[in-house]
Amino acid sequence: MKRDLLALSDFSADEIEALLERAGRMKTGGDAGKCPLIGKSIGLLFEKPSTRTRISFEVGIYQLGGNAVTMNPSELQLGRGESMPDTARTLSRYLDGIMIRTFAHSTLTEFSANAPIPVINGLSDLHHPCQTLADLMTLREKKGRLKGLKVAFVGDGNNVCNSLIEGAALMEFDLTVACPEGFEPDASILERARASAKSEIVVLRDPREAAGMADAVYTDVWVSMGQEQQSADKKGRLRDYQINSRLLSCSKKDAIVLHCLPAHRGEEITDEVIDSPQSVVFDQAENRLHAQKALLELLIT
Ligand code: CP
Ligand code: NVA
Repeated sequence: MKRDLLALSDFSADEIEALLERAGRMKTGGDAGKCPLIGKSIGLLFEKPSTRTRISFEVGIYQLGGNAVTMNPSELQLGRGESMPDTARTLSRYLDGIMIRTFAHSTLTEFSANAPIPVINGLSDLHHPCQTLADLMTLREKKGRLKGLKVAFVGDGNNVCNSLIEGAALMEFDLTVACPEGFEPDASILERARASAKSEIVVLRDPREAAGMADAVYTDVWVSMGQEQQSADKKGRLRDYQINSRLLSCSKKDAIVLHCLPAHRGEEITDEVIDSPQSVVFDQAENRLHAQKALLELLIT
């Protein structure tokens, strides 16, 4: 029976714990030279741009001995109107697994329903679970644990925030989201996460209250891919939600700063903060590679 990763909640806490352990061993070179994907081809379909996701998957697949097939809809018959179900049925005859970055989350569920191969969400408008795996790995590396940590997410309650909420519920850390009215995380993801969580997941308005005594402060862009039309309005409404030195001074002295990248410096985060010793954003970006290699090994071999 194939397994997908469409949302982080497709996995149990124990599975995530094991995956993070495995990713850590891969990072330290514990099984360099092992090639679990030898002879296998993994598709990477991008309906939106990507730097980290694309390159970390391509490199990770190469390091595991597999073959990455990167696809752009405009170069496939998809771009001329072939349906997603027919594309899924066809690609499944060649590929051993596929990662898809798309707009509507339903594109992933529809693809998966028509594909007997594992499907990995490389970002949809609703979720970004591969990012959260790297976030969890980074938090654990830097803070030594996940359970009981206090994490603040400041800004737009977007796909990255939704997946982090699922991460908090599964791995038992407290998460406080500070966002303006109208920019809250997805209501049903929040409700489900709160119903299952042993930790506290709170949404409030005041960024200082969220950052107060946090072990980690996280932000993401104010305008996500596909939202460019709302850009001016969103940026205006999120103006008071910037992570700057003043806001960071409310957090613990040893708080780390997370950002999934790409950053819009001077908007959601200042140069001073993202370039400070407290910022771990490039370790976080590196961990995409290790976490996804562990994910590919789990789902595809
Ligand atoms: N964080 C992230 O997913 O980056 P890319 O958009 O560059 O893949
Ligand atoms: N929320 C951002 C994340 C980019 C990695 C977006 O969807 O554009």
